[in-house]
Amino acid sequence: MTPPDPLATTLRTHLGGTLRIDHAGQTVSLGGWVHKSRDLGGLVFLDLRDREGLVQVSFNPEWTAADVIAAAAAVGTESAVLVDGVVAPRPDGLRNADLPTGEIELRATAIRVVGPAVTPAIPVALGKDAKLPAEDLRLRYRVLDLRRAALQKNLMLRHRLLQAARNCLSDDGYLELETPILTKPTPEGARDFLVPSRMHAGEFFALPQSPQIYKQLFMCAGFDRYFQIARCFRDEDLRADRQLEFTQIDIEASFVTREDIIVMAEGLMKALWFEGGFEIDIPFPRMGYADAMERYGCDRPDLRYGMEIRDLTAVFATSESGIIQGAIAAGGRVRGITVPGAATWSRKQVDELEAIAKSAGAGGLVRLKRHEGKLEGPLAKFLSAEAGAQLGLVEGDLLLAVAAADRISSPALDRVRQECAARLGLQDPNHRQFLWVLDFPMFEKDPETGALAAVHHPFTASNAEDMSARPDAPETWRALAYDCVLNGTELGGGSIRTSDPAVQARMFELLGIPDRADQERRFGFLLEGLRAGAPPHGGIAFGFDRIAMILAGAESLRDVIAFPKTTAARASFEGAPSAVPQQDLDELHISLKEQG
Ligand code: AMO
Repeated sequence: MTPPDPLATTLRTHLGGTLRIDHAGQTVSLGGWVHKSRDLGGLVFLDLRDREGLVQVSFNPEWTAADVIAAAAAVGTESAVLVDGVVAPRPDGLRNADLPTGEIELRATAIRVVGPAVTPAIPVALGKDAKLPAEDLRLRYRVLDLRRAALQKNLMLRHRLLQAARNCLSDDGYLELETPILTKPTPEGARDFLVPSRMHAGEFFALPQSPQIYKQLFMCAGFDRYFQIARCFRDEDLRADRQLEFTQIDIEASFVTREDIIVMAEGLMKALWFEGGFEIDIPFPRMGYADAMERYGCDRPDLRYGMEIRDLTAVFATSESGIIQGAIAAGGRVRGITVPGAATWSRKQVDELEAIAKSAGAGGLVRLKRHEGKLEGPLAKFLSAEAGAQLGLVEGDLLLAVAAADRISSPALDRVRQECAARLGLQDPNHRQFLWVLDFPMFEKDPETGALAAVHHPFTASNAEDMSARPDAPETWRALAYDCVLNGTELGGGSIRTSDPAVQARMFELLGIPDRADQERRFGFLLEGLRAGAPPHGGIAFGFDRIAMILAGAESLRDVIAFPKTTAARASFEGAPSAVPQQDLDELHISLKEQG
């Protein structure tokens, strides 16, 4: 006898997708949706679907009354039904090895349509090679789309990952504490979503870009270790790995150093990947920000493959090319990557790479290749034999270089390197290359205005040695910040915080908020917490949707979020954002500008 189904209710005994040969002979009641139906004239087969999968239900005069067969023949696909019957082995030759329930069928004795469906706007049952409906349709008819096995699987994985995160952190003494959604702006580098106050004309709440300040206040209040599965809101342009509203695993701890947070976070990643079905090795390798920018041109390098950026300035310094000499004279460098085996790429293929470099801001892409023993390329004639040899190209190599300031060559070479890796099939999803990037700069300077902005956020602590060695050059200070990167994607980031209120006030000053009253108005609630006696503290936040996306093998966050926003920043299923009646606007003290 099989154990009772834990999901049994008064209306059903089992989830059909869980039935196996061991259930043969049992009388069961199932509830689910009609995935497909076949009427073979007097014999009706329904594929019944629930979240556990499909099971075949057969209506046959041998065991089904005629009126029940007629009712089964009439039921529309995607209707919700209750079916009674007996589990039986399928006859020889009719077993389906592709289906977990494929050895059995339900011999139906009764059917009740409990939720008749209108004709579905998009199909749920798709053949193996059938193309998915266009994404805008899938998002518009999301309830039907969510019925597909792939999305059911993704959201069930999401659930398991959330539980794994909760268990892992809770076992480590982290308390799950909640923070408000109607709050004050938390600067995380994006625009805020504002919520007008009805009670206080002209005043607004902001939705949190992250719970950053509140989690620090929890540390000031003595909770020692906090976590939250936190919804964050950022009004920024959407991409496949960005949503307006997303979920973080947000963590903070007291009396810690960077090392403590890194070790805890590695344990959490191990637990999540284990839940996703993978063993990963910890600790992760580490790399300084400056090193990452020098060798890979970006702060989240994909280390699954080489093609590191090399400084070729000394080699090209002897070349007679005016363009290169000009770039070097202007303070730039010649930096490039060597792509093995790419010497045979067509001119068009290399032109496409140049277009990528240009779209990232570079003026062009220097190309040189070692082909049939010779160095070839427009600049080959400008290089002495000796300089050519110093490039170190072997047969089949293609060198792609940019002569410019680093701030131009880095992003261009990063994009080109990634495209070359994609072409060469080096972005193996089964290779999970985690990495910590450390020692980010504290500030970045606007090249035009000279204004400083926080690279991570204003509450990050600076390296104390850097601050005392060069107190007047904050742009040279390193931050006690760290990012966790996997295969070129930033999974999470965090830092040790400034716990001294005077230092925090100085940070605000450097960030262009010199006025004390202004600081108090915007961040007084944090400063007050720090002044009340703050422990050294720090934390991290992981992008949970990104983690779920990677572990689900999905390409877009939209495939692991039940009701996501479109790339046009709309909720197309619910139809939001939407206009509101004038009366509501009046109550909120809002008058709209004429749309131009
Ligand atoms: P940060 O801004 O780096 O840090 O965010 C942490 C992680 O959240 C994810 N993420 C996003 N995911 C989906 N859509 C978005 N629009 C989006 N923006 C960010 C990323 C990112 O690594 N308060 C700090 C954390 C801390 O210092 O503890 C913070 O929010 O995976």
